[in-house]
Amino acid sequence: ALISLRQLLDHAAENDYGVPAFNVNNLEQMRAIMQAADKTNSPVIVQASAGARKYAGAPFLRHLIESAIEEWPHIPVVVHQDHGTSPAVCQRSIQLGFSSVMMDGSLKEDGKTPADYDYNVRVTQQTVAMAHACGVSVEGELGCLGSLETGEAGEEDGVGAEGKLSHDQLLTDPEEAAQFVAATQVDALAIACGTSHGAYKFTRPPTGDILSIDRIKEIHRRIPNTHLVMHGSSSVPQEWLKIINEFGGEIPETYGVPVEQIQEGIKNGVRKVNIDTDLRLASTGAIRRHLAENTSNFDPRKYLQAATDAMQAICEHRYQAFGCEGQA
Ligand code: G3H
Ligand code: 13P
Ligand code: ZN
Repeated sequence: ALISLRQLLDHAAENDYGVPAFNVNNLEQMRAIMQAADKTNSPVIVQASAGARKYAGAPFLRHLIESAIEEWPHIPVVVHQDHGTSPAVCQRSIQLGFSSVMMDGSLKEDGKTPADYDYNVRVTQQTVAMAHACGVSVEGELGCLGSLETGEAGEEDGVGAEGKLSHDQLLTDPEEAAQFVAATQVDALAIACGTSHGAYKFTRPPTGDILSIDRIKEIHRRIPNTHLVMHGSSSVPQEWLKIINEFGGEIPETYGVPVEQIQEGIKNGVRKVNIDTDLRLASTGAIRRHLAENTSNFDPRKYLQAATDAMQAICEHRYQAFGCEGQA
C-alpha cells in the first residue's frame, strides 16, 4: 500500500529504526528492493530523481511503482521524489501520484549554485503548503553535501554544488536547523555531515573529522522531534570494487560511509538513509563478472538476473542493519 513519508518515519521514530531510501530507475532495481523488503518484511522508500524521470520517462516510472505496490500489497511503500529543484518540479510529482517530495532549496533551481537561507525557506514553505494540502510529505535540506576533505560536492553527473564549499556550508548548523524546521514545517530534514553523492566520498576510511556523526547528535539534541535524513549514505563495498576491477573495470581506491556509522546516526534521529551508488556498484560488478564467466551468453535476462540478485543482497543487508526487519 502507498503511504506517506511522515507516516512511515513517525513509526520508525517510535520504534527506533531507520529506513533505507533506494533510488529507482528500472525494473531490476525495483524488483531487487521489493523482493528484499518482502523477504525481511520491511517497509519501503523508493525514490526517483530527475535523472530517473529522464531515463525511464514519467509514465513508465509511475507504472513501475504502481506495479510494485500491486504485486506486494502487504508492503507499505513511500514513493518519494529525490532532490526536487523547485516547487514546480514537486508539484508535477504530486500530480504523478508520489506520496512524498524533496524540495532541495539548499541549491538554486540549476541544482548547482548554493542558495541562501531565505531562498531555501521561501521555496520550501511554498512546497509544504502545496504538498500538505494533498496529504503529501516534504523533505527539506539545510547545508550542502560535500567532502570535508576537499570542499568538493562530488558526483560527476548528478545533483551537487559546483565549486568549492566552505566548512560552514558542509556542516548543518543546529540552531539554523531549528529555525528552518519551525519556519517551514517540513516532515523530514536532510542535513550535511560530510557525506557526498557518488562513489568518491572519502580517500580513506572516514574518521570523525571528515564524517561528523557528532554533528548529527548536536542537531538531534536541538530538534529531537524532527526526522533527519542522511544523503550520500552508500557504503561503497570494497568487495564490489574488487570484483568490478577484477573483471575489466577501473575504479580508483575510494571509501564510503560504514554501516556502523549509519547505525550510530539512526540512534541519533536519522530515519531516512539515501542509497543509490551501492546498488549501481553491485549491479555493475555482477554484470561484468557474469559476462566474463559466461562468454557465450547473449540473453540479457541472465546478466540482469545476476545484477538483481546482487542488488537484492545489499537491500536485505541494509533493511536488517537499520532495524527495518519485521516492521512492515
Ligand atoms: O541524488 C543523487 C542520486 O544518486 C540520483 O542520481 O541524478 O544520477 O539519478 P541521478
Ligand atoms: P549515494 O550516492 O551515496 O548512494 O547517495 C544517494 C543519495 O543521497 C540520493 O539522494
Ligand atoms: Zn541525495
